[in-house]
Amino acid sequence: MKRMVVGVSGASGIVLAYKLLRVLAEKGYHIDCVMSKHALYAASLEMGKEYASSAKFIEPLNTVTVHSNQDVGCSICSGSFPSLGMVIIPCSMGTVAAIACGLADNALRRAADVTLKERRPLVIVPRECPLSSLHLENLLRLSNLGATIVPPIPAWYTQPKSVDDIENFIVGRVLDALKIDHALYPRWGEDQLSSIFAAH
Ligand SMILES: Cc1cc2nc3c(=O)[nH]c(=O)nc-3n(C[C@H](O)[C@H](O)[C@H](O)COP(=O)(O)O)c2cc1C
Repeated sequence: MKRMVVGVSGASGIVLAYKLLRVLAEKGYHIDCVMSKHALYAASLEMGKEYASSAKFIEPLNTVTVHSNQDVGCSICSGSFPSLGMVIIPCSMGTVAAIACGLADNALRRAADVTLKERRPLVIVPRECPLSSLHLENLLRLSNLGATIVPPIPAWYTQPKSVDDIENFIVGRVLDALKIDHALYPRWGEDQLSSIFAAH
């Protein structure tokens, strides 16, 4: 079974996690999801719906195992757990800092720590603006440890027409980092984009 760990921390951009979970499920992945309490708070605030629990957030998907962030003894906290990798989307600067210094004090952070030690793909979608030198140093540290940093930044060359287009681009770049095939955004060099370029 293809298993992917998805961590959702308390940063803005929770809709990106919502979309990624659904795309991974569509693609036949079994997802192990862990959310921080601030992620649930941000989800309720940003998505216009009360999310009292992670189970509510992943509804109606049935290929998701939800883990409690308090349970540092759950399966994803062990290196023997056979996941293909982990995505943290969005990733708060608090969680970035904790992982960068090996602080494995909740299930999300411990799962990231394990992903690094097992040298599996770890994709981090950090959300803060502007970034301080401390944020940048922590992100550099994680990048040097092998994590892929995918900031939730749009591309204008795809000529997005909606927020949905922008979100699809970001989720698509996360899938690219995991080497998962998709058609969420038009790629540079594809017919549509080439003809736009040729016209100028
Ligand atoms: C609605 C909301 C939005 C937030 N957005 C961000 C953000 O974009 N980036 C960030 O680093 N922290 C953000 N925070 C602060 C974090 O949630 C806070 O630092 C928290 O302790 C992070 O813990 P966690 O990573 O375990 O969720 C936000 C908090 C709230 C309540």
